[in-house]
Amino acid sequence: MKIIGLNGSPRADGNTAKLVKEILSGASDNGADVQIFNLAKMNVAPCIGCYACKKDGTCILDDDMQKLYDEIQASDVIVLGSPIYMWEMTAQAKSFVDRLCAFIKPDFSTRLNGEKKLILAFTQGNPDSEMFNFYFEYLAKMFGFLAFNVEETIVVTGTVERSDILSQEFILETARQMGKDL
Ligand SMILES: Cc1cc2nc3c(=O)[nH]c(=O)nc-3n(C[C@H](O)[C@H](O)[C@H](O)COP(=O)(O)O)c2cc1C
Repeated sequence: MKIIGLNGSPRADGNTAKLVKEILSGASDNGADVQIFNLAKMNVAPCIGCYACKKDGTCILDDDMQKLYDEIQASDVIVLGSPIYMWEMTAQAKSFVDRLCAFIKPDFSTRLNGEKKLILAFTQGNPDSEMFNFYFEYLAKMFGFLAFNVEETIVVTGTVERSDILSQEFILETARQMGKDL
């Protein structure tokens, strides 16, 4: 099983990175082939809305997203991590998500080449674990429309300093088990 993790936080060693890593470590323990990409360190430009991808699914922007298109097609599971920034994912994560438009055919069917499980992994400063449920529900629907199978959404709350998550042993154990169960 091939699993890729995408960290949408500009803090490469922050809470979201640690959360994604924990899920992938669990999966790796069970024999999965895992790799993590830091979106903020990659060159993934925002979609320019040219619709060139509608012809055959090829995006004309020649940047690191080309690698990620291939990685997604080769993967069974994608773990998309992001901190909440202003009640949504980061701009880096959103640029990546907009570029997934290339996987949608003009009739709105998918160019994904098989079942792709998607795990959403969020961290947020606010301690209220219910606060952004509306957003996570929307994301599950939106990614479902894109033909991803959203298996789980894991949300870590109350993380501000880059290693705050390390004091939340229960959530780290949950994340690792989530990876093992993949
Ligand atoms: C620009 C910015 C906007 C943020 N907006 C929110 C927000 O709307 N709600 C929230 O709970 N936390 C918000 N946070 C806090 C982050 O979501 C939180 O600290 C997160 O764990 C950071 O992840 P990281 O350690 O991977 O960078 C914001 C942080 C920044 C820097």
